[in-house]
Amino acid sequence: MLHPSGVLSFTRLLPVVYASLRPPATIVQPSRLPLAISPLTRLKNGFSLNGRRMTFQFAKPETVSKAELYANLQSQLRSLLEGERDLIANAANLSALLYHSLPDLNWTGFYFVRGVELVLGPFQGKPACVRIAIGKGVCGTAAAHRQTILVANVHEFPGHIACDSASNSEIVIPIIKHERLLGVLDLDSPMFARFDDEDAEGLNELAQIFIDSIHFESDP
Ligand code: SME
Repeated sequence: MLHPSGVLSFTRLLPVVYASLRPPATIVQPSRLPLAISPLTRLKNGFSLNGRRMTFQFAKPETVSKAELYANLQSQLRSLLEGERDLIANAANLSALLYHSLPDLNWTGFYFVRGVELVLGPFQGKPACVRIAIGKGVCGTAAAHRQTILVANVHEFPGHIACDSASNSEIVIPIIKHERLLGVLDLDSPMFARFDDEDAEGLNELAQIFIDSIHFESDP
């Protein structure tokens, strides 16, 4: 299912707004854009048990469908976050799981809302810009609109903030709990058009598992 707030997609200079789409609507990637996504990897063997759940192991890659990959990641994420409610810890583990499981990424991580800004949270990849104004860049735009944004070519996104010059495409997912915007989950790729509707759907489902896992004192 897509994030309840819908999905925005920016390809070339023309933004295509998916705000009106609701599950089970599909996000349509322009057919002109080659998906060009490498064979996906199958992940098996979640945790290695040494008396305690300590080690996360990745199995040898096998070619699987993207749907199967995200289904595997869902069960791994549930295991990974089980019994832990801390925002930072769970964000760090989700970021690491994505970075080491999804092909063709150069950055995955979180930005969290701090006043009128987003501030860098747990991430994997090269050091990144620390503060992004809400409404600026891809992350700030996703936060302002509370919508997932797919960017097939970041160089054509007005106001894109280049933290890593290797990035060519990007997807940003808003993190919303009890209607409160907590931040965004950002994934960058060196490939153009790396992310499509299946990624948006799969990542929103993973984000929801993360959102459900965390707990604040003020939560009902
Ligand atoms: N490209 C993002 C900035 C964050 S980095 O990609 C890690 C943006 O335009 O908001």
